Amino acid sequence: MPISPHIRRFFAVFTILATTISPAALLAQEKDPKDSRETANNTQNSDRQGLDRGKTPAERLNPQEFMGRRIANTMHYLAADWLTRTTREREEACSKLLKALPIERGQTVCDLGCGNGFYTLQLARRVGSKGTVWAVDIQPEMLELLGERAKARRITNIRPTLGKEDSPQLPEGELDLVLLVDVYHEFSHPKEMLAAMRASLKPTGRIALVEYRAEDPTVPIRELHKMTQSQAMKEYTANGFKLVGQYDELPWQHVFYFARDDSPLEEVELKTWERPADEQ
Ligand SMILES: C[S@@+](CC[C@H](N)C(=O)[O-])C[C@H]1O[C@@H](n2cnc3c(N)ncnc32)[C@H](O)[C@@H]1O
Repeated sequence: MPISPHIRRFFAVFTILATTISPAALLAQEKDPKDSRETANNTQNSDRQGLDRGKTPAERLNPQEFMGRRIANTMHYLAADWLTRTTREREEACSKLLKALPIERGQTVCDLGCGNGFYTLQLARRVGSKGTVWAVDIQPEMLELLGERAKARRITNIRPTLGKEDSPQLPEGELDLVLLVDVYHEFSHPKEMLAAMRASLKPTGRIALVEYRAEDPTVPIRELHKMTQSQAMKEYTANGFKLVGQYDELPWQHVFYFARDDSPLEEVELKTWERPADEQ
């Protein structure tokens, strides 16, 4: 069903207010509008489709938990305008992130949890006509929005793909890079998604995990939608990955590069994030 621009705008404004204003105001809210969709994260019983096999007893009892972290609900497609807001570049320095990503022309990359394609369209330009961008989301409406934006720009090297909550539906061993911007903390089945992403990577492939910094109280995003360095490391290293790079030059977000633990890429040590001296 087509959504009127007025309704979209209403949700976008609502989301901007709820996610970018002061932390005190945000803490006062019970529910984040990015959580406005009643997803399967926490509304269905915890053993649906046998997906809870392999979880600890604590995680089975509380399906919203993964390795000590509370899982956030999925951002609703009606709030998609927030992803393409005009202030995003100033707030998140998106072009800096794009420049830092290790992408070459002709490569096969994935924008996982692509939303309305803010990054997908730019990745498509980076890999060029001989490259491919898999654009995966679990909300078909997000893929429709992406499709409209790609069509208007005549971009044809994108493969919109409807993912499942526990599988991105990617080919095995083909990906050079999987980009995860502001999405991993929303995965309702992180263990299954980590295994599937690992299987999708080439031996030299990387995951670029981009998450709002939980160590920094000045980042005006709700705690549930942030991650600490130690939590990200804990989850990825326990699930078949090693750290092969790090980029901490963005104003609000950590960027971790993870590769399969059997990758020929060299493992690096994590550098602890510190506030830049000129901001102290
Ligand atoms: C906050 S949005 C970020 C969108 C985009 N990465 C960006 O930065 O503009 C998170 C997106 O992840 C999607 N998502 C959540 N869980 C997912 C999963 N298991 N597989 C694929 N997409 C998922 C949501 O539907 C939503 O569109």
